[in-house]
Amino acid sequence: MSLQVKEIELAVADPASEAWLEVHHAANRGVWGPAAERTSIEEVVDVAARRHEVRRAFVVTEDGSDLPLAAAQTIRRTRDNVGTAGLWLSVHPDHQRRGVGSALLAHCEQVLRDDGCDGIHEHSGAPVENGDAATGFALANGYRQTLLDLRQDLPLPVDDAALTALDPRPDPAAYVIETSVDGLPEEWLEDRALLARRMSTDAPSGDIELDEEDWDAERVRQVWNTPSPIWGVESVARHVPTGRLVAFTDIVVRPGQPDLAVQSDTLVLREHRGQALGLAVKLANLRALQRERPDAATVRTWNADTNTHMVAINERMGFVVTGWTREWAKDLRGAPGR
Ligand SMILES: CC(C)(COP(=O)(O)OP(=O)(O)OC[C@H]1O[C@@H](n2cnc3c(N)ncnc32)[C@H](O)[C@@H]1OP(=O)(O)O)[C@@H](O)C(=O)NCCC(=O)NCCS
Repeated sequence: MSLQVKEIELAVADPASEAWLEVHHAANRGVWGPAAERTSIEEVVDVAARRHEVRRAFVVTEDGSDLPLAAAQTIRRTRDNVGTAGLWLSVHPDHQRRGVGSALLAHCEQVLRDDGCDGIHEHSGAPVENGDAATGFALANGYRQTLLDLRQDLPLPVDDAALTALDPRPDPAAYVIETSVDGLPEEWLEDRALLARRMSTDAPSGDIELDEEDWDAERVRQVWNTPSPIWGVESVARHVPTGRLVAFTDIVVRPGQPDLAVQSDTLVLREHRGQALGLAVKLANLRALQRERPDAATVRTWNADTNTHMVAINERMGFVVTGWTREWAKDLRGAPGR
């Protein structure tokens, strides 16, 4: 067989882009079954445009055919952590275990090296704790595991009485909880930028060194307040004596999968921990999600297995473990080229 790796430009309503995405979806279904997560080219293009990243897409074809056997996207950051790239790589289930994935991976690593990156930090997931293909593949290709995350799912709807019973009801003279649907109020943005900076270093990241992300109000506006096919709801805790936002949590619903709500970041500033603010903002956000998006059937979240506090909060809310995610790192300096 003769494999060719080709770079493609992703675009909405473009058959080659749809074929690229279908490889990812088919590989995902191979791992997770029919309920596998889906996305859309619309979302992939939107995300690339709103972030400080350069994303390049690649396909592997064979013997002159246009049909992709494998697909990948390299993700190079341009604002912070510029040396550490991300990578999304899938091989169609009909073509796995033939060296296709390794060939595409070597190509992407070289592209990233040529673009000035010195490392890759990415994750893979499976419904089993051990023995999945991605783990074998990552280890065979020189990656080291930096973290193990639990995937937890909460079936919706959750009875409102159950949420009320859990609600820690913070002292209203100390904290108030506020919620915003599909966009953030302008007056949140400065504080929200500080919360995003802290989020980038406070969540467990294993033994990989990442710099604090460089967030300001303008970057928050660009990610959360520009028109997007991704829908979001966010709840924050405001510290009444100072008026500052000290905790946040957000949930997004993506256009490719409206029945799945994805829990994104949650953070309570260190100085305000230990007062159940994490639970309070998550409950408020869940209530808003149920009110605004009654079609959502599941909330899904990922947390480091060592983040016992967050995992325990989720369990109290009714989340159950449905998978495991491993985070991987590879140093590209000195690694062999293609
Ligand atoms: C992981 C994946 C990319 C591997 O692609 P592939 O083309 O089958 O991989 P290769 O044929 O290059 O395999 C290289 C080595 O990886 C390891 N490996 C690959 N699949 C494996 C499996 N199912 N079980 C154990 N080890 C495996 C083996 O060591 C293999 O070498 P060998 O075949 O000589 O034993 C593919 O299974 C896939 O697309 N999975 C779903 C998406 C995903 O998890 N992507 C990675 C995270 S972004």
